[in-house]
Amino acid sequence: MRTSEIPGFYKLPAEERLKVVKEFAGLTDEEVRILREGGLPFEQASRMIENVVGLMPVPIGIATNFRINGRDYLIPMATEEPSVVAAASNAAKMARARGGFSTESTHPVMIGQIQVVGSPDPERARREVLLAKEEILRKANEQDPVLVGLGGGAVGLEARVIQTGRGPMVVVHLLIDVRDAMGANVINTMCESVSPIIERITGGKTLLRIVSNLAIYRLARARAVFAKEALGGEEVVEAILDAYEFAVSDIFRCVTHNKGIMNGVTAVALATANDTRAIEAGAHAYAAMGGTYRPLSRWSKTEDGDLLGELELPVAAGVVGGATAVHPVARVCRKILGVGSARELAEVMAAVGLANNLAAMRALATEGIQRGHMKLHARNIAMMAGAEGDLVDLVAERMIAERKIRVDRAREILEEIRRGQG
Ligand code: MEV
Repeated sequence: MRTSEIPGFYKLPAEERLKVVKEFAGLTDEEVRILREGGLPFEQASRMIENVVGLMPVPIGIATNFRINGRDYLIPMATEEPSVVAAASNAAKMARARGGFSTESTHPVMIGQIQVVGSPDPERARREVLLAKEEILRKANEQDPVLVGLGGGAVGLEARVIQTGRGPMVVVHLLIDVRDAMGANVINTMCESVSPIIERITGGKTLLRIVSNLAIYRLARARAVFAKEALGGEEVVEAILDAYEFAVSDIFRCVTHNKGIMNGVTAVALATANDTRAIEAGAHAYAAMGGTYRPLSRWSKTEDGDLLGELELPVAAGVVGGATAVHPVARVCRKILGVGSARELAEVMAAVGLANNLAAMRALATEGIQRGHMKLHARNIAMMAGAEGDLVDLVAERMIAERKIRVDRAREILEEIRRGQG
């Protein structure tokens, strides 16, 4: 069985790392080249958005140690932030001791909204829209026979009356199973197609017809047990629970807690060219669904005194359509992940989010996160001073020990080491 537990992966030169990933995922030489060079041809980029003048490369790191539902994954994470990949890998290693992550997800059902204004009797209009469910769903499904053939399509209808500053409005929700797509396109098309029927029934005018990024029916869940020994003992478990309760009770902390979760989720979303803003917006709105902004994760102690983490969030991510399918790097990242469906991808994202959350809370509740950051910072400074290979770590360690992390000091240390060796 392929294992994602690769001791010392982080110490390998990047070329060696690429070899390991190539073998793990069965990448071709061409795919390795694409990954290494961030292979989005300028030509292709110019067709993706408007007024293109350049590219914005972001590093992709591989998080190791992930075991999800008994299967090992290497996780490509695209992020500009140091420590995120290491944090995910460390937490996944701790979770492994108790079997790794278990995940599940709901069907990929998204909501498309149709706003109706000026209906003479909104309450009656709402009821009549619901009575016309079959006609509305049939019309919606005519727009995408391929999706319907794959077992997806419009599957449900909801209608509400909301009170607004400009009077009552009827809001109709089309519930659409988008299968392996993110789905925004098909949702918007279906919403537009049924609006004449809705205008006829309600006697009002349809205005906005658009996907809702609050995908409450498209949820991914992850859970994992972290052994108290792996975390550093009972005290650490207690400190993490205190950290968690801080987030439960304080919005200023809670938003940062959830941001830490999204460090993982968004990095996988970006690596697979998914719509990171849609996923972020959905996650934060979901966190506030109950009327108070809450942590997306839940942490508790098991009977054995270990730490149990659970995460639930909406994940509107796809593996077909849009940039996910055409971006060359995203395609390679998907191959590395080896996910066969949008649901599996969403579950992987939830597991990574939970891992990043645990790693952040553990660091914050023990030594603080600056020490880890300083290490990376010191390595960067050492490289800026001209250190290469093993010298990077040697110089970085000396600077940390001296608490002087500066380029001029790095140069001096480098000089001393070289003289000593010469
Ligand atoms: C930094 O990107 C993320 C953290 O702030 C998350 C947290 O505070 O839980 C470390």
